[in-house]
Amino acid sequence: MPKAIRIYEHGGPEVLKWEDVELPALGPRDVRVRHTAIGLNFSDVYLRTGLYARPLPSGMGSEAAGVVEQVGRGVRGLKRGDRVAYYWGSVLDAYATERVLPYEALLKLPAGVSDEQAAAALLKGLTAWYLLRETYRLRRGEVILVPAAAGGVGVILCQWARALGARVIGAVGEESKAAIARRYGCHQVLVGYHDLAARTRALHRGKGVDVVYDGVGRDTFHGSLDALRARGLMVTFGNASGAVEPFTALDLQRRGSLYVTRPAAADYLHDAQARARGARELFALMKRRAIRVHIGHTHPLADAAQAQRELEARRTIGATVLLP
Ligand SMILES: NC(=O)c1ccc[n+]([C@@H]2O[C@H](COP(=O)([O-])OP(=O)(O)OC[C@H]3O[C@@H](n4cnc5c(N)ncnc54)[C@H](OP(=O)(O)O)[C@@H]3O)[C@@H](O)[C@H]2O)c1
Repeated sequence: MPKAIRIYEHGGPEVLKWEDVELPALGPRDVRVRHTAIGLNFSDVYLRTGLYARPLPSGMGSEAAGVVEQVGRGVRGLKRGDRVAYYWGSVLDAYATERVLPYEALLKLPAGVSDEQAAAALLKGLTAWYLLRETYRLRRGEVILVPAAAGGVGVILCQWARALGARVIGAVGEESKAAIARRYGCHQVLVGYHDLAARTRALHRGKGVDVVYDGVGRDTFHGSLDALRARGLMVTFGNASGAVEPFTALDLQRRGSLYVTRPAAADYLHDAQARARGARELFALMKRRAIRVHIGHTHPLADAAQAQRELEARRTIGATVLLP
């Protein structure tokens, strides 16, 4: 019998329930996948707490890797035994031993990319891809600031930005994370978020940076804005410390005609072609080791609650993978 984590109410990690589940019947364009590794993401926490609203009851999780077990009769290009991975945010059921997905959700995994690496890197890497290539097309020589540089997205985004020729200033919550941030793409690393703007400028001859990629949210928002040059871009893409509080247009004018965007994966990765394009670039960079995946932690899938607890408590480095 397949098993999955489900929630019936919002709340702390204790609301995650490990249960037997029935899989839906396989439609002609569907594929049944046996999961081998599941990616843990901060958005899983927002969905559990209710910060991001979804109807209940619900499954959990939006990315995994696994093996094709069965394909619907209309499916072309995939067969039993293929290794696949996906980021699929429409229905949240990745925290499961098996599931049925529409075939367009699935990407075939190339040799040289393991299931665990794919589960650790697909959503985080596709996020880095669209933030660096689509939200803003980062150019050689530009300087960026990345809070939470040793986190799951941070480790990949910093390496990718460096591979594009940017100078990367990372910031991390504590000293023990600084070495990781340096190893994975950062040219310079700030420890702690106090006086973020002044300390960032001190590393850049007193000037502000071109772009801030900020997934920390509430606690770093104003420091990140102040770290920008005139007409710089604030990409506030997450809420790890809480949702950014309201601000006014004049806050942007006073700081030098700044731009702010709040991108969401769903608006950049909704079509299969975009995901395939991003994944091709990601896997190519992984294979030539311009992007190295750092799996800091693994947990049995049934212990997903503990994995989420550690993510929320800032005790993780790089990516966490859940193993069915
Ligand atoms: N918009 C999108 O499309 C998209 C897609 C994927 C992820 N995201 C966002 O990207 C961010 C990173 O996601 P991730 O899964 O890779 O997580 P993560 O970076 O591995 O974990 C979050 C990190 O944020 C930092 N942080 C600072 N203050 C915090 C607080 N009060 N509570 C918890 N963490 C705090 C911690 O690093 P330090 O200790 O070093 O500060 C922590 O390790 C999240 O905000 C996520 O929502 C957005």
